[in-house]
Amino acid sequence: MAEVETQWMANPNRYDDETYNRCGKSGLILPKITLGLWQNFGGVDVYETQRAMIRRAFDRGVFHFDLANNYGPPPGSAEENFGKVLAQDLKRHRDELVISTKAGYRMWPGPFGEWGSRKYLISSLDQSLQRMGLDYVDIFYSHRVDPNTPLAETMGALDQIVRSGKALYVGISSYSPEMTRQAHAILKDLGTPCVIHQPSYSMVNRWVEEGLLDTLSELGMGCIAFSPLAQGLLTNKYLNGVPEESRAALEGSFQPGMLTEENLNRVRALNEIAKRRGQTLAQMAIAWVLRRPEVTSALIGARHVQQLDNSLDALNNLEFSAEELAEIDKYAGDAGVNLWQQSSDSQAPV
Ligand SMILES: NC(=O)c1ccc[n+]([C@@H]2O[C@H](COP(=O)([O-])OP(=O)(O)OC[C@H]3O[C@@H](n4cnc5c(N)ncnc54)[C@H](OP(=O)(O)O)[C@@H]3O)[C@@H](O)[C@H]2O)c1
Repeated sequence: MAEVETQWMANPNRYDDETYNRCGKSGLILPKITLGLWQNFGGVDVYETQRAMIRRAFDRGVFHFDLANNYGPPPGSAEENFGKVLAQDLKRHRDELVISTKAGYRMWPGPFGEWGSRKYLISSLDQSLQRMGLDYVDIFYSHRVDPNTPLAETMGALDQIVRSGKALYVGISSYSPEMTRQAHAILKDLGTPCVIHQPSYSMVNRWVEEGLLDTLSELGMGCIAFSPLAQGLLTNKYLNGVPEESRAALEGSFQPGMLTEENLNRVRALNEIAKRRGQTLAQMAIAWVLRRPEVTSALIGARHVQQLDNSLDALNNLEFSAEELAEIDKYAGDAGVNLWQQSSDSQAPV
């Protein structure tokens, strides 16, 4: 007889610590830490490891999962895998979950397979819903500005998506402060609020401090900061060389220029500050982005449950003294602005 899998039971105390924030001035609430499925959740990765991470995250109060049409590899497979975990373990918790996806990067051949046309965004979301087995997502993003499509068309598509019930909220990712203002204004006129921005932000990548965070605060928008660990650089994993099981060991998203001796010296100094705070460097890096009141959630990635657990323990110490912040500035400074400002998840290894 085939073995019958017993139904997984989620931790009943998962909301006890109330570790969540309001997203700008909207009704949307997000956990302080969100799990992203860009890397390590593809068809090439081990499904049971992915499933264990998603369950563990949910058990620890992480009710937001961030995806995009192209996450994999192969593109689309992260959504398929997430849909499988949803069907197996999380279906009955659907109304507790905030699931986001995006479109903007290359997903299929031809002129309608990327960017920001109405045709691309709407058909891409239809495909994403099918891959995940969902009727709607909670947040749908325009993943990047399309310089050749009128912004009014891209925002019009987001408005249409909300009206059609396929997304509850919409947002934008990696838009400049000026484009954010324009996008927000167009959506406001259409009657659909632009509730969230998803930019990159970390101790070594501070472009959002030059206008974007002020803009979001003024517009009442939330902010979910991606790659707070600078893809793993702001952890202790590269201090003694490049481990085989690491992003830097693979071709693709991790830019080789990140692991210079100069950057590693910065990381060593930051690691000492973290130790004095009784944290790992990963924990300090996550706490550091959350110190800003404009940041609703820190959007992290993880390779396995141990990493995830380590990162989620960042919530045990979110306070920084002025001296600690000054010391972090001294070592991290603007080290990586040029390296990561343009960070995009189009470069996932295929
Ligand atoms: N909107 C956009 O354009 C965009 C772009 C990029 C990302 N994102 C979103 O942001 C999410 C997070 O991005 P990310 O994965 O680059 O974030 P990240 O949190 O900066 O980096 C995650 C990586 O850091 C390492 N790591 C994580 N926790 C660790 C720990 N406790 N100790 C040691 N190492 C640890 C792992 O690297 P190894 O795998 O090497 O072990 C892990 O894969 C994505 O999944 C996606 O949802 C959005």
